[in-house]
Amino acid sequence: MRLRQAGLEDAAALAALHATAFPPGEAWPEGTMRSLLGLPGVTALLAEGEGLLLLRQAADEAEVLTLAVRPEARRQGVARALLETGMLLLAAAGARRLLLEVAAENAPAMALYAGLGFARAGERRNYYAPGRHAWLLARALEGEG
Ligand SMILES: CC(C)(COP(=O)(O)OP(=O)(O)OC[C@H]1O[C@@H](n2cnc3c(N)ncnc32)[C@H](O)[C@@H]1OP(=O)(O)O)[C@@H](O)C(=O)NCCC(=O)NCCS
Repeated sequence: MRLRQAGLEDAAALAALHATAFPPGEAWPEGTMRSLLGLPGVTALLAEGEGLLLLRQAADEAEVLTLAVRPEARRQGVARALLETGMLLLAAAGARRLLLEVAAENAPAMALYAGLGFARAGERRNYYAPGRHAWLLARALEGEG
């Protein structure tokens, strides 16, 4: 697996990968990727042709903006590798806590995050749509690496 930090020149590749992992209405187009990549504190990691992770850090707190792995590349540790590398980068940059929202019914993602030590820190009712709730998950980044 080739894993590297992505830049503005990768916006199209990030959008193409994102579109393989989310339904059409939820996929982020190239313009959205480009805008996010231009924001302060945003880091993108790309597993070439397989998956992507977008993170945003503000002071000692960070959040997962999105995580996606192409269906054909799943269950091979791509998401775990992206998150582990992302958490090392965040910790090195001074982040002490990583937060994310995940759909309550997203069993693969819930299993992934539980395995990496995330715990429930709250609930976001109707976060995605009426009746579609999210869990807020959090993990301390102390001692990374
Ligand atoms: C969730 C997602 C990112 C996981 O990517 P992945 O590369 O397949 O995950 P990994 O191979 O790194 O899995 C690591 C661990 O997570 C858990 N896991 C991942 N997918 C799982 C599944 N379908 N069922 C049960 N557990 C799963 C397992 O514990 C797995 O370890 P194991 O394979 O050794 O059992 C991927 O399914 C995806 O892109 N889904 C659609 C988009 C999405 O839901 N993004 C997250 C939004 S918060």
